[in-house]
Amino acid sequence: MVRQEEDEALIELLSSGKEQLSEAVQNVIPQSMYQLSVDDLIEDIEDHHHIGEREALKRVAPMVNKIMVVHYMEHRQELVPVHRLFSDLKKELEEHFVKEEQLVFPLVKSKGFGDEEVRTYIEELKEEHRTICEILRELKQVTRDFNAPQGACPTFIGTYKELSELTQDVLIQIYKENMILFPKGEEKGGNE
Ligand SMILES: [Fe+2]
Repeated sequence: MVRQEEDEALIELLSSGKEQLSEAVQNVIPQSMYQLSVDDLIEDIEDHHHIGEREALKRVAPMVNKIMVVHYMEHRQELVPVHRLFSDLKKELEEHFVKEEQLVFPLVKSKGFGDEEVRTYIEELKEEHRTICEILRELKQVTRDFNAPQGACPTFIGTYKELSELTQDVLIQIYKENMILFPKGEEKGGNE
């Protein structure tokens, strides 16, 4: 489980476009990930992140709506933005996943990173990653790092816990793409 300061360091890193690892995130990803081939990395991303995150989005959507409805009068200044940001996140991730799975990753596998069309798509994916990181940053801010207000009910607390876990998983996934998968392609002369 990634700690809050690691979350922040990851968001910083992934939104900046820099490729310098800070100490806080150096040990987030096991070293073995760096040894995987491009095909195995793509499989890991789809099997370990896309599937679980789609399930989480489906599970959390009614929870986010429920806490907004139940606690609207008392906590609307927090829960309306949470509802809006979560909806944005869901839309962005669902559209991003299908683009990777059906369009970009198959192209990477067949043409390699040297291909011009592939390179253009990778730039688009990185831009989408930045948008997703920005939503996560706002979500963290408005929820005070996913800490429910004092005296909150179990559904409120449980929803924030799910949002926190989803955030961490998304950040690790983006890290794997930006920092391992895309550079790995470039390293191999764009042709693995
Ligand atoms: Fe991605």
